[in-house]
Amino acid sequence: MSILQRNDYCWLDSDNATLQAHGGGVLIHEGQYYWYGENRDGPIYAEQDGRKRADNVGVSCYRSSDLLTWDNLGVVLPAVDDPDHDLHIRKVIERPKVIYNSSTGKFVMWLHVDSADYAFARAGVAISDHPTGPFRYLYSLRPNGFMSRDQTVFVDDGGTAYHIGASDENQTAMVSQLTDDYLNISGKFRKIFEGRCMEAFAFTRHEGRFWMIASGCTGWDPNAARSAVADDMMGPWEELGNPCVGEHADITFGGQSTFILPPGPANQQHIAMFDIWRPTDLRTSGYVWLPIQWEGGRMALRWQTTWSS
Ligand code: GAL
Repeated sequence: MSILQRNDYCWLDSDNATLQAHGGGVLIHEGQYYWYGENRDGPIYAEQDGRKRADNVGVSCYRSSDLLTWDNLGVVLPAVDDPDHDLHIRKVIERPKVIYNSSTGKFVMWLHVDSADYAFARAGVAISDHPTGPFRYLYSLRPNGFMSRDQTVFVDDGGTAYHIGASDENQTAMVSQLTDDYLNISGKFRKIFEGRCMEAFAFTRHEGRFWMIASGCTGWDPNAARSAVADDMMGPWEELGNPCVGEHADITFGGQSTFILPPGPANQQHIAMFDIWRPTDLRTSGYVWLPIQWEGGRMALRWQTTWSS
């Protein structure tokens, strides 16, 4: 099947509403794509530094069979109005990712939960019987006792799942193997990229190796992407530099990585997903999806306003 992605406008869902799945990830399940992400379409108010902040709405889910038309399935994990709750509307709910556990039949969401000043630095866990939710929030934790901010989860071919988060004030990345039910960390972990200050981790598997795209640490402002390859999720990881090529490669074409979509029913190529953050109006932050080209043992990403596969 051929798909056509357009990167030159703010994507709309099938109701012509702005797609609210920022910092998101896609689960392929029974021939459908489920895109989970931050819903930033909440009430907006100005912060002291002039930037605007939107109240959390929660985690939204959209479904597609062709990667072009996205039906809004609603907020599958809502923010709550209780200031003591991790998911309070004024706190931080970022980078949700959902994985399916074939042994338990459960859909497990991991997300970055934080206080408004990002000092809480924890990973939250939620569970559902269906990809369409609703998800039930279980708890938050600091993996192995360490901070966790920008985060993702990744399941390898054998079904072993890993949580990867920015730790130690974002100076290191930490890979934590999850328990068999994906609901907790197993205690097996490794710190990687120490002192390299990375965020926005995204992983995939290609030709028997693990591949990563990430960003540097400049908040909402874009920077040069990072890439790396390993034979084991726990490392050692070999850094391969900025995978972006061409004009504006130094700022990842204005984007920040969030996920790598592996080949699926409607896409033959691995697709690198990026957010184009708009800190003054996060709800209109856009999306850029680019096919990954593997060249000479490295990943290459070239800007394309439109492309098909
Ligand atoms: C970025 C991070 C985003 C968000 C933002 C807040 O570095 O990747 O998810 O946390 O900082 O400034």
